[in-house]
Amino acid sequence: MSSRDQFASKIGFILAAAGSAIGLGAIWKFPYMAGTNGGSVFIFLFILCTVFIGLPILIAEFMIGRRGQLDPINSFKAQAPSKPWYMIGWLGLVACGLILSFYSVVGGWILSYLFRAISMSLTGQGLDFAALFGEIISNPVEVLMAQGAFMLLTLLIVQAGIKGGIEVASKWMMPLLFIFFILLFIRSITLDGAMEGIKFMFVPDWSYLNAKTLLLALGQAFFSLSVGVSAMITYSSYLPRTENIVSSARNVAIMNIAISILAGLVIFPAVFALGYSPEQGPGLVFIMIPAVFEQLPMGGLFLIIFFILLLFATITSSIALLEVVVSIGVGKKTQARKRASWLFATIIFIVGIPSALSYGIMSDFTIMGKNFFDFADYLTNSIMMPIGALLISLFAGFHYSKKISQEEFQSSPFLFKTWLLIVRYIAPIAIIVILVRQAFA
Ligand code: PHE
Repeated sequence: MSSRDQFASKIGFILAAAGSAIGLGAIWKFPYMAGTNGGSVFIFLFILCTVFIGLPILIAEFMIGRRGQLDPINSFKAQAPSKPWYMIGWLGLVACGLILSFYSVVGGWILSYLFRAISMSLTGQGLDFAALFGEIISNPVEVLMAQGAFMLLTLLIVQAGIKGGIEVASKWMMPLLFIFFILLFIRSITLDGAMEGIKFMFVPDWSYLNAKTLLLALGQAFFSLSVGVSAMITYSSYLPRTENIVSSARNVAIMNIAISILAGLVIFPAVFALGYSPEQGPGLVFIMIPAVFEQLPMGGLFLIIFFILLLFATITSSIALLEVVVSIGVGKKTQARKRASWLFATIIFIVGIPSALSYGIMSDFTIMGKNFFDFADYLTNSIMMPIGALLISLFAGFHYSKKISQEEFQSSPFLFKTWLLIVRYIAPIAIIVILVRQAFA
């Protein structure tokens, strides 16, 4: 992305933005969060938070990024000189770095699984997939090597730049992933006892309706839409003015919800049909996916393809995370891009080491009762992202005059009024209430 590169096409931008959004959030995190938080109620709240809070703030990020055409910090500085709004950019930098530090650990798990799939050691009757997952993530040498390899892949793509790397990768991977999920869904839903999983997803158990679930659902909506940490500000800074940001944001949100639900529809019927517990935590997808493929003819082959696709989905998100850090680190000195990418990737790798070891030799090391991995996740998801989203919402709602935001909005007056009401009042109040209630829960 030397100087100010731009996206080559509208579909390219939507796919890249969707690629940044759709990743581990929808496929890995959503199912296990739903699994450990009562299923249906969490899913319902997640959709609500996505549509009424996440989407409007995503539109705000697109607006800010496209107007600024700079990295987040300089963008806020240019649009609000001598005001402290640029701190949002700093928050984004720290949050994206921290997210990537544990995101790359999970990326490493995917590489581990991919290698095992290729060497055929994930197939064969009677494998205990839960035990296998435990073995993989607790092996210190393997997790660190895999995490390093994943960071290296991310780094190489970020260096290739917008058109060459991100856009091309996103273009063919997303549709393929979709088709694969549908195939898996068909297998999963036709297993004996699958209906229990559907009930788990859609028949509400209201006892889970509380502030904690709501904060987790909100955090999940932000995380999986990539909202609140300036990632979408960064991407849309490469966006030409002719694009309609409202429809782009809507498409991203729809695809994201669809993939999340689809991932759930693959996982939960199989969980119940094959006698697993939905409360496996971070291992859920890694345990259930091989278990479902085992039920398919040529499962071993499909499993390889699946992990390749999952790897792509993950990388299109990890490059967004690294891109935020690099674009800020480089600022206007774009010739320093290469060195900066290496430097930041190395720092993030080092920060991620305790997360990588959290399920093995460092499992006794806890902060606030959480291992390092969970702590980094909690800090970013439940604190930094909501605060970032809150500030971005206020910036778009109040710093921009109504005339400016209406011009940028390029959509119907009714939608504009609704959006303005949300970013000015509804989203900020909701985020504050949820944060405060959670703090005193
Ligand atoms: N949305 C990405 C995912 O779901 C994660 C992400 C968060 C990416 C924030 C960029 C910024 O996997």
